Amino acid sequence: MSREGYSRVTTRFLKLGDAPEAVFAHVTEPASALTGKGKQMIGKKMVDAINEQINAEFYSSYLYLSMAAYFDSINLKGFENWMRVQAQEEDFHAKKFFDYVLSRQGRIHLKAIAEPQTTWKSPLDAFQTTYKHETVVTGLINKLATLALKEDDHATSVLLHWFINEQVEEESNADALVQKLKMIGDNSGALFLVDQELAARVFVPPVAGGA
Ligand SMILES: [Fe+2]
Ligand SMILES: [Fe+2]
Repeated sequence: MSREGYSRVTTRFLKLGDAPEAVFAHVTEPASALTGKGKQMIGKKMVDAINEQINAEFYSSYLYLSMAAYFDSINLKGFENWMRVQAQEEDFHAKKFFDYVLSRQGRIHLKAIAEPQTTWKSPLDAFQTTYKHETVVTGLINKLATLALKEDDHATSVLLHWFINEQVEEESNADALVQKLKMIGDNSGALFLVDQELAARVFVPPVAGGA
């Protein structure tokens, strides 16, 4: 789909002998093709809400990276690895929304990312924070899904189905670790075994189509 500014640029004919400035005149014109103010194929309300969600996903990535650093500081390298992979997943979520907005000619507005917490009382405390955070994100995704329905934006609804399923998995993974850590209590031998288990997690980007 051509944007308003593009058509203005492409219908301009230059003649031999034109002054050099004329050749590049379209570059200095406030043409919408260059400022990116072309027609958006997605509603403003929807795109504003997705821009907020991109920020929430990047914040999630920050939060889990901060937890990775915390786990490093208490020598739990497997937990650190798990959090690094989690941070990569959140980065992937942010970029999935980012790519979607661009594919619908929407404008991206990247906002400041809030500073995350830097320390926790224990691994259990960190995973309780993780679980709680994921429930908050689920709420945000559900709100987006409701907005997409209100706006009759079926393409965004389809995208959000992926995120709704993803949140079920995210909450379940975090809760499983909360329960495991509760069972372990003060048993450092058991904590060591879980640390080894979490060291095996690798980031696998979801395949195109399913993602
Ligand atoms: Fe996410
Ligand atoms: Fe998440």
